[in-house]
Amino acid sequence: MMAIDQPQLFSGSTALSDFGDWVRKNSFSGVEVLVDEHTHHWCFPRFRQLAGLTVEPVVVPAGEGSKSVPVLAGLWQALLDRQADRQTLLINLGGGMITDLGGFVASTYKRGIPFAHVPTSLLGQVDAAIGHKTGIDVGEVKNSVGTFMPPHALVLDAGFLETLPSEELRSGMAEVLKHGLIRDATFWKELAGTDGIGIPDAAIVQRAARIKMEIVEIDPREKGLRKILNFGHSLGHAVESEAMMAGAPVRHGDAVAAGMLMESWLSRELGLLADKEWVEIRDVLSRMYPPLPLQHVDQDRMLTFLRNDKKNKGRSLRFVLLERIGKAVFDHIVEESMAIRAIQAYPSWFVPS
Ligand SMILES: NC(=O)c1ccc[n+]([C@@H]2O[C@H](COP(=O)([O-])OP(=O)(O)OC[C@H]3O[C@@H](n4cnc5c(N)ncnc54)[C@H](O)[C@@H]3O)[C@@H](O)[C@H]2O)c1
Repeated sequence: MMAIDQPQLFSGSTALSDFGDWVRKNSFSGVEVLVDEHTHHWCFPRFRQLAGLTVEPVVVPAGEGSKSVPVLAGLWQALLDRQADRQTLLINLGGGMITDLGGFVASTYKRGIPFAHVPTSLLGQVDAAIGHKTGIDVGEVKNSVGTFMPPHALVLDAGFLETLPSEELRSGMAEVLKHGLIRDATFWKELAGTDGIGIPDAAIVQRAARIKMEIVEIDPREKGLRKILNFGHSLGHAVESEAMMAGAPVRHGDAVAAGMLMESWLSRELGLLADKEWVEIRDVLSRMYPPLPLQHVDQDRMLTFLRNDKKNKGRSLRFVLLERIGKAVFDHIVEESMAIRAIQAYPSWFVPS
């Protein structure tokens, strides 16, 4: 298979100014910046000042609704109106919604133009902007159309997190914790010793981002190892979809934290994970994340969501489970009845306050 080029990485305190220099040194015929209305307000002034790039950004509404065909078509048209050509650089300045959308716009406009990701949310910095997946939602189906396309550059600037709302920080932190659980026990220990609240140190963000980069480099197309990044996401996605159906949506990271709890419990029940490690994971995650109201979920609907999971093979559910903290296994068959038991057991892991 063709090797996938790795993006030029800019990180640390001079990330934005180094990126600005890189843009000026390359012979792009033009530069466009994509933002949503929040990152336009909170992040674009910092970006313009530190990167030293003067450009009028293209602004889309904030929220998942912009990862859609109508917004995409509007962006293709905006690039045409601005006479962007195949050497124009598109800079995606925002959270995972903007990097997914902008990556897809850039990988399809004129059959592909160079793009750079400047993720501004924690989830974007440790997850969405890494791994070359771009995409939009079609109807209710998330990420149903997309491409695998690496950006030319990736800029990790911790300063953007200063303005990120606390619920968004907590949501992104779930993916940081996940990276420790699946790949790096020492990192998990460090995180477990914190309260998990507030803005994480730049070193934590970089370490979490590096774990994903290393996994993606080994398995860019998700044929094997990369599947471990889905830990917590089988039951997490089912919880997220069920909550959406019930009209009480939950944040992705909160659902993933619930999914990691349930999938760690399953790892213990199925004889993979030592009881002591399960108890440690339970104590840390139930302290950092509020319990989600799962007592009344529709179990049949949850099963339908689980059966539709992309990781399944044939008729059996396949999960990522933990063998120990820092080591995940993928493609593990889980009986439907066990998955339901995990959902039923979930409320008991929280100490009533
Ligand atoms: N491509 C991938 O591999 C991948 C992986 C995980 C998630 N995703 C996608 O990422 C998206 C979720 O990402 P997200 O949680 O970053 O959502 P988001 O981009 O919608 O950002 C969340 C909110 O925070 C705001 N925001 C972002 N940065 C800010 C800042 N610095 N200050 C103030 N406000 C800021 C945004 O405007 C938005 O309102 C989903 O669409 C998901 O499908 C993609």
